[in-house]
Amino acid sequence: MEGMLKSDALKGKTIIITGGGTGLGKSMGKYMLALGANLVITSRKKEVLDKTVLELERETGGSVLAVACDVRKYEEIVNVIAETERRYGQIHGVLNNAAGNFISPTERLSYRAFDIVVDIVLKGTYYMTLAMGKHWIANKQPGTFLNIVTTYAWTGSGYVVPSACSKAGVLALTRSLAVEWAKYNIRSNAIAPGPFPTEGAWSRLLPGDLVSKFNPAERIPLKRVGEHQELANLAAYLMSDFSAYINGEVITIDGGEWLRNGGEFSHLEAITDTQWDQLEKMRGK
Ligand code: HXC
Ligand code: NAP
Repeated sequence: MEGMLKSDALKGKTIIITGGGTGLGKSMGKYMLALGANLVITSRKKEVLDKTVLELERETGGSVLAVACDVRKYEEIVNVIAETERRYGQIHGVLNNAAGNFISPTERLSYRAFDIVVDIVLKGTYYMTLAMGKHWIANKQPGTFLNIVTTYAWTGSGYVVPSACSKAGVLALTRSLAVEWAKYNIRSNAIAPGPFPTEGAWSRLLPGDLVSKFNPAERIPLKRVGEHQELANLAAYLMSDFSAYINGEVITIDGGEWLRNGGEFSHLEAITDTQWDQLEKMRGK
């Protein structure tokens, strides 16, 4: 649960994190700050961002800029890039982390409910990527994109269909641009986390007493949810020059969750040792 990189691993780097005022974005940002980065956090709620700036600067001694931005509005993203350059100069990395999500049977969704998630997750990510990518290319600057998806980006998932469609799109964006923009020295990678407790995700995906009915840890071979520092270590590494040759990759950090739940016979872990003994005796009869 400790930071794994050298203390100056991100020194001199300026990194923008969308949705950086809360949850996983905040935790990843805090570690990047501790590693010497200048941090810019953006989201819709300026008051939340301002509180996080105070907290992170106090805890790390680093420098954080908060810029309000709705990632569905291209001109607000362009403004984040301009404000960041004004404060810190060249930008080195973007962590596309902002998201919206909730559980619902798909037939109960209005088209606006579907839109809201797709607009934040997919459109927000490609708006940010397009604006930053054009800027880096025009200025002949290298850059790193790191996109937060999740494992249902490739399996799909019922009850979170707008999110699954959007994360699949973000993964396609990641892999496509890893190839197309490599010639500009722009890398693109993704992380697919399994469950990491945050207020934002838990309140929307496990509302009411669902949290006691569906304990996420039980679905995970390692029998626990993720620790924020574990994700922060991976994100900082992928943002750093130590990962300079990693491009177009999606790294899963889920304790084995998605493979377990796709495996035909994984549920046999419910069989006890005594039952296995009995089954063994029956073999060959
Ligand atoms: C059905 C819903 C709904 C729900 C909203 N809507 N919540 N429909 N079930 N639970 C519908 C509304 O009725 C409306 O449609 C439309 O969606 C827009 O709703 P608003 O409330 O006006 O939207 P807004 O205030 O902008 O809020 C956006 C939000 C909200 C996405 C609905 O949850 C939000 O702000 N989320 C941001 C943070 C977040 O979601 N974090 C969790 C990420 S976790 P109508 O037709 O009525 O107008 C994550 C984990 C992935 O991604 C993997 C886990 C393992
Ligand atoms: P979170 O705290 O709710 O983070 C989501 C952030 O996105 C919030 O800070 C929110 O801030 C911001 N946001 C939402 N709509 C926005 C918009 N239109 N424009 C700009 N910012 C917006 O939840 P989290 O759990 O940390 O999730 C972070 C990322 O991890 C997401 O990409 C999520 O899909 C992914 N993830 C989480 C888990 C998990 O178990 N927690 C698992 C897999 C993947 P505002 O409301 O202020 O805008």
